Amino acid sequence: MKKILFVASECVPFVKTGGLADVVGSLPKAFSKDDYDIRVMIPNYHAIKPEYRDKMETIYYFQMDNRIYVGVKKLEYDGITYYFIDNEQYFSGLVPYYDMFQDLERFAYFSKACLSSLPLIGFRPDIIHCHDWQASLVPVYLNTVFQGDPFFRGIRTIMTIHNLRFQGTWNVGHIRWVSGLPDECFTPGKLVSPYQDTTIPQSEWNCSMLRGGLVYSDYITTVSNTYSWEIQTPNFGDGLDDILKWRHERLWGIINGIDYVEWNPATDKKISTNYSVKDFRTKRGANKKALQAELNLPQEENALMLGLVSRLTDQKGLDLVDGIMDRLCSLNVQLVVLGTGASNYENMFRYYAWKYPGKVSANICYSDALAHKIYSSADAFLVPSAFEPCGLTQLISLRYGAVPIVHETGGLKDTVKPYNPMNNTGTGFSFAGYSPDELLGRVQHALFVYNMEREHWDQMVERGMNEDWSWNNSSKIYMDLYSRM
Ligand code: ADP
Ligand code: GLC
Repeated sequence: MKKILFVASECVPFVKTGGLADVVGSLPKAFSKDDYDIRVMIPNYHAIKPEYRDKMETIYYFQMDNRIYVGVKKLEYDGITYYFIDNEQYFSGLVPYYDMFQDLERFAYFSKACLSSLPLIGFRPDIIHCHDWQASLVPVYLNTVFQGDPFFRGIRTIMTIHNLRFQGTWNVGHIRWVSGLPDECFTPGKLVSPYQDTTIPQSEWNCSMLRGGLVYSDYITTVSNTYSWEIQTPNFGDGLDDILKWRHERLWGIINGIDYVEWNPATDKKISTNYSVKDFRTKRGANKKALQAELNLPQEENALMLGLVSRLTDQKGLDLVDGIMDRLCSLNVQLVVLGTGASNYENMFRYYAWKYPGKVSANICYSDALAHKIYSSADAFLVPSAFEPCGLTQLISLRYGAVPIVHETGGLKDTVKPYNPMNNTGTGFSFAGYSPDELLGRVQHALFVYNMEREHWDQMVERGMNEDWSWNNSSKIYMDLYSRM
């Protein structure tokens, strides 16, 4: 029996701001319980709904370093053991993340508290699988501060990159202060770039917690094969391409899956009409009609409904959408947006909804229920991201029969096969050059196939729905990795 501990800052169903939570929530369930004991540790945020918080049981509490409270709560849910690191001072806000300055201290505390609690709660994992920068000090602490403790000897670590854009970066002075890590960690090549200009005072050097995780972990993974190559280049490497290139033999790109129980159009209780690959041609349209009514869009069957469910940030290619909106709205399309994030993008979509009523529906909020309705209703789905480590929305779209239109980058490139009219293959539309005109060109092509070659369109939907983007395949690659360690 292999024992594995996931350490992360979010996890479905407890707390979610993006795809990280989906992955941490669904991947552990994909392993056989006979061979793997996979448990998950996240902070005990106040933002976790009372229906879960009320069921947690406090199993231990102590003063870490004789100074700071750590509570460990536990909940068995859906066959998985979850631990929640409890500390009112750090995790009592209404949202999981604050600003970077505060988050550095909160997640340095979290990482150390995770390790400190293990001997006390009686769980000694063989492997600690750390996700993103918030958990990236775990391998660093393990190989420095905790190194002499026999309990920790032999524990291996994996650092999974879900998004290199967020690294937990500040100067050495601050990160040394919040982490209490020894001096050796702050030499160039460790948490600091090997190219650091050493003529300036050390406390001002740029310091990245994620870099620490990449240096000190045994293996590194990221969430698609293409992204694993992209991040070894300066364009996508966000200043860490040196270490990723250096450790490329220890870097695996493993594509994400999605939870096929949660995301199943045949049983989904959040959509108005269930359907499957067998009957989507006759049944799926009812969802579009219902959503048009709900969002006050004209109930036009032939208008190509484009869905967009996304964090509204620069990563997601929304500047391209901005660049095509006037031309897009002169076509027979409807655009349904669901997202929150940067106020410039929120206001941009509000503006277009005002300018093009009946064409654009801007839902500037977070709503799981509406997301399910959009996946089951939209004919096509936009993911024009500038970069995308994996992307889950195109996978959900494929499962729900919304044809993805994507920029060929990262996981988008690895999961959407471009439509080829010559031999009628492919599962979506994709463009290589990051430009508004390329995006518009793909939408126009989609509109043409949708209106003029409906049988080809439906066959494309069918091919997409027939693919398997559950964790079936990728969990086997994780098993392979775990067994090598
Ligand atoms: P990222 O993690 O970069 O945000 P992903 O595509 O990996 O992107 O995952 C996004 C996840 O968050 C998907 O499950 C998507 O449905 C969900 N999501 C994003 N924005 C919203 C929203 N406003 N309301 C509901 N779900 C959302
Ligand atoms: C990140 C990435 C996204 C990926 C998700 C889960 O948030 O932006 O591409 O799908 O993590 O791995």
